[in-house]
Amino acid sequence: MEKIHAYSEDTVRRIATFAGLRSDQPALVVNGDSRRVNLEKVLPSDVQFDGIFTSPPYVGQIDYHNQHVYAYELFGIPRRDSSEIGPKRGGKSKLAQQSYVENIAAVFGHCSKFLKPGGKVFIVANDRFGLYPEIMQRSGLRIKETIVRAVTKRTEQGDDSF
Ligand SMILES: C[S@@+](CC[C@H](N)C(=O)[O-])C[C@H]1O[C@@H](n2cnc3c(N)ncnc32)[C@H](O)[C@@H]1O
Repeated sequence: MEKIHAYSEDTVRRIATFAGLRSDQPALVVNGDSRRVNLEKVLPSDVQFDGIFTSPPYVGQIDYHNQHVYAYELFGIPRRDSSEIGPKRGGKSKLAQQSYVENIAAVFGHCSKFLKPGGKVFIVANDRFGLYPEIMQRSGLRIKETIVRAVTKRTEQGDDSF
C-alpha cells in the first residue's frame, strides 16, 4: 500500500516536470520489441536519429509486465512477457547474463541502423556485472564516456551509484 503513495507522488512530480519542458514538437510512440521492431513501416524512409536515450532493463532485476500490470489492463495493451529482456524470473546466473548480453546487443545493433553517422547513444544502466563493454563491442558501438552517479530520485530504495 505504501508503494501506491510513492508511485502516485512520483508520477505527479514527473508530470509537473514534463509540463515545464514540453514543446510543441510532434512525438511518436511505437510499441514493439526493440530487437526487431519494424521502424521502416512507421517512419519516413530516409529518417535518421541524432541519438538514442534509453534506460534498458537489467539482468534479473524486475518483471516489468508484473510491475506495470495495471497499465496493460487499463490501456488494453497486449502482454508480451516472453519478449521481455532480462526478467527477474530468469535470474542473474551466468547463463542469464550471457543471454542478456546477446539480446541487448541485438537491440543496439538493430536501433543503430537508424542513427546518423556519429550519432550518440545515452544508456542508463546499473552495470553491476560489467556487461556493457561486451554489449557495445557486439553492437558496433564505442564507449565514449562512463558517468557514475547516485540515482537518488528512484521510486525503489537505495542510493548506490551506477
Ligand atoms: C528500466 S525500464 C525503463 C522504462 C522507461 N524507459 C523509463 O525510463 O521509465 C526498462 C523497460 O524495458 C522494457 N523492455 C524489456 N524488454 C524489452 C524489449 N524486448 N523491447 C522493448 N522494451 C523492452 C521493459 O518492459 C521496461 O519497461
